[in-house]
Amino acid sequence: MNNIVLIGFMGVGKSTIAENMSTMFAMKAVEMDQVIAGREGMSIPDIFAAHGEEYFRGLETELLIELKSQKNLVISCGGGAALREQNVAEMKENGKVVLLTASPEVIYERVKDSDDRPVLKGRKNIRGISELMEQRREKYEAAADIVINTDHKTAPEICKELFQRLMEMEE
Ligand code: S3P
Repeated sequence: MNNIVLIGFMGVGKSTIAENMSTMFAMKAVEMDQVIAGREGMSIPDIFAAHGEEYFRGLETELLIELKSQKNLVISCGGGAALREQNVAEMKENGKVVLLTASPEVIYERVKDSDDRPVLKGRKNIRGISELMEQRREKYEAAADIVINTDHKTAPEICKELFQRLMEMEE
């Protein structure tokens, strides 16, 4: 199977869906943030603090290029990866790009207790989240081959829906 690339705002559930897809459909899950943090030997907030956002974005691009040589992956991208045009081109060469969406209220509930997302610093509230989401919406939608709303759905339900949509595209 070609790779599946999950994109979307922080807290939409990309990592959870990647894990579930990997068990349900025998794919290998790749969590980009985790791979990058492991290689740099630093947490994502520390990479942002030490080297800045552009440096981090460059690492995302390099990793997407590298992953093209593998198959049967479900790649969970960091929430900002699809904002760079070059990354979107690399994602398309990996396989199908799947945008997961959720309402700002649902996202807030999922991110409110963690401090590992430097981009949300100073705007970790429903209004701040919804403003940033609006700024990013156009780029996310332009990158996506498939869009799936995740509000009030379980992970297995989302995975089944995603698999079905992928099959429909193959027909
Ligand atoms: C970011 C999202 C994060 C992480 C970094 C930047 C963003 O990933 O890559 O903090 O700009 O949206 P998650 O979407 O997995 O939280």
